[in-house]
Amino acid sequence: MSKVKLNLIAAACENMGIGANGTLPWKLKTEMAYFTTMTTKVSDDNKTNAVIMGRRTWDCIPVKYRPLINRVNIVLTHQVDAIKEKAPDGVIVVPSLDEAISYIESRDDIESTWVIGGSSIYKAAMEHPNCGKIYLTEIQKSFTCDTFFPNIDKQQFHLVDEEEVPGERQVEGDISYFFRVYRRL
Ligand SMILES: NC(=O)c1ccc[n+]([C@@H]2O[C@H](COP(=O)([O-])OP(=O)(O)OC[C@H]3O[C@@H](n4cnc5c(N)ncnc54)[C@H](OP(=O)(O)O)[C@@H]3O)[C@@H](O)[C@H]2O)c1
Repeated sequence: MSKVKLNLIAAACENMGIGANGTLPWKLKTEMAYFTTMTTKVSDDNKTNAVIMGRRTWDCIPVKYRPLINRVNIVLTHQVDAIKEKAPDGVIVVPSLDEAISYIESRDDIESTWVIGGSSIYKAAMEHPNCGKIYLTEIQKSFTCDTFFPNIDKQQFHLVDEEEVPGERQVEGDISYFFRVYRRL
């Protein structure tokens, strides 16, 4: 099996919603900073992490913030040529998750791989044999959403304590949330 481990990272509200109208239903600065830190930090300064996302998630990132800096951005789409043409230099556009993994394997300077959404990409990654951990921010509030995090099979994924992840409740304005980590057995 390939050595590339897929880490998922997502923020979901009580009804497991992750998005509405092509954007995030909430504005949580510290949560966003956590996403940036987790997906960017490396233990080997000569390496970089990769982020894998669906084409709609790519579209949702404001133009001034994409590609996500200090990470290799990989976009999944069925319209590779059309998206490649519009994407900035350095963005990798591929037709499947396995192609994304093969690309990462072909490089020796990628440390960690983060799957950053949306729904179908999370589902494919969770069902993939290379899936490792799910970093899920559990927001203690319901929002109206049109995009949802797939069901986590709790027989397969167990809640674990990670030293690098704060365990205490986080509060931003009137919203509280927990950073959770699930590991596949
Ligand atoms: N809360 C969070 O953590 C979080 C994280 C990410 C996104 N979001 C939110 O989620 C929403 C976007 O997510 P989404 O689920 O609608 O879309 P998405 O998964 O980001 O993108 C879907 C697109 O990805 C491509 N795709 C999907 N599966 C593929 C496969 N197996 N092979 C090749 N291409 C594939 C297709 O692109 P083509 O149509 O081009 O073929 C498909 O239309 C937004 O509201 C965003 O803000 C939230």
